[in-house]
Amino acid sequence: MISKDIYQAAHALYQEEIVAIPTETVYGLAANIYSEKAVRKIFELKNRPLSNPLIVHIGSKNQVEDLTDHIPILAEKLMDTFWPGSLTLVLKKKEKVPDFVTGGKDTVAIRIPQHEKTLQLLNLLPFPLAAPSANPFGSISPTSASHVVKYFDRRIPLIIDGGICQNGLESTIIGFEDDAPVLYRLGSITVEEIENEIGPIQIKKGTSNETIAPGMMNKHYAPTTLTVVTSNISETIHLHKGKRMGLLVFNQKSTNLDVAHQEVLSAKGDLKEAAANLYSSLHRLDAMNLEVIISEKFPEEKWGKTINDRLKRASHQ
Ligand code: TXA
Ligand code: MG
Repeated sequence: MISKDIYQAAHALYQEEIVAIPTETVYGLAANIYSEKAVRKIFELKNRPLSNPLIVHIGSKNQVEDLTDHIPILAEKLMDTFWPGSLTLVLKKKEKVPDFVTGGKDTVAIRIPQHEKTLQLLNLLPFPLAAPSANPFGSISPTSASHVVKYFDRRIPLIIDGGICQNGLESTIIGFEDDAPVLYRLGSITVEEIENEIGPIQIKKGTSNETIAPGMMNKHYAPTTLTVVTSNISETIHLHKGKRMGLLVFNQKSTNLDVAHQEVLSAKGDLKEAAANLYSSLHRLDAMNLEVIISEKFPEEKWGKTINDRLKRASHQ
């Protein structure tokens, strides 16, 4: 059921149920972090490996102290600058943070989302919410309530409709190794914005399934349609001539008549707007019975870096 009523959501969460919640990045599948029953349901619904830890969502900064004893100085600075917002910090966990949330790790990923409805909900509850993106493991993340309906209709009791996700890409994840910040996942807050605040940051490149943040796995965020990324659109269209093709482009449509459908992510060439539109365009293209989705490679700066990261994983064979 779709609803806008956060009291109904609070009630369901108290009953150890799963509720889909809106955030400014993507929709999440939320559960009380202290309910093993509810958290296990999330893993089951998503078909997600139990070792893949969940992000813990809180409503205000003072709740961090319930989850960790150690906040590195730069973590504090990042919280003050970017919370509420699309930045997740991985910190040493307190013992009471359940292993079934952190996949057995001794760290916990934490963020305060920037979405009015969900902030109200979080501040109403006496417990934080564990919430991964509300999509089956490996598929495209949901940026609207209708995407969640498509994936999980009738399998969860409640979807809170908070409109279209403003940022449209997952949060940026930063961890600390000997108190030095390390970027684990590119996301909605750009490397440029982070470095502007705290100076140069090491970027961990994920290569295997056993990386620190499994969201960095090679095949992820993927449509069911074959997807290719190219720096030369017209050449790639030519290569796939005869197939039913869909295009994903930054700001300029192709004039090639062989193309069945095109999605322009930002006609005015704004990377942040393109980022916000990426997943909804991929959802649309994936529903069109195309034989191939051809995507342009984006400028490798700011949100373009995150878009290219997601496209690379979407197209991984
Ligand atoms: O924007 C977001 O972050 C969304 C919304 C709902 O908040 N959530 C999200 O969750 O993207 P999910 O589960 O799809 O991705 C969480 C990522 C995973 O790659 C997971 O491995 C990583 O965070 N992660 C969680 N806890 C971690 C930890 N303790 N250490 C390292 N990585 C962690
Ligand atoms: Mg996810």
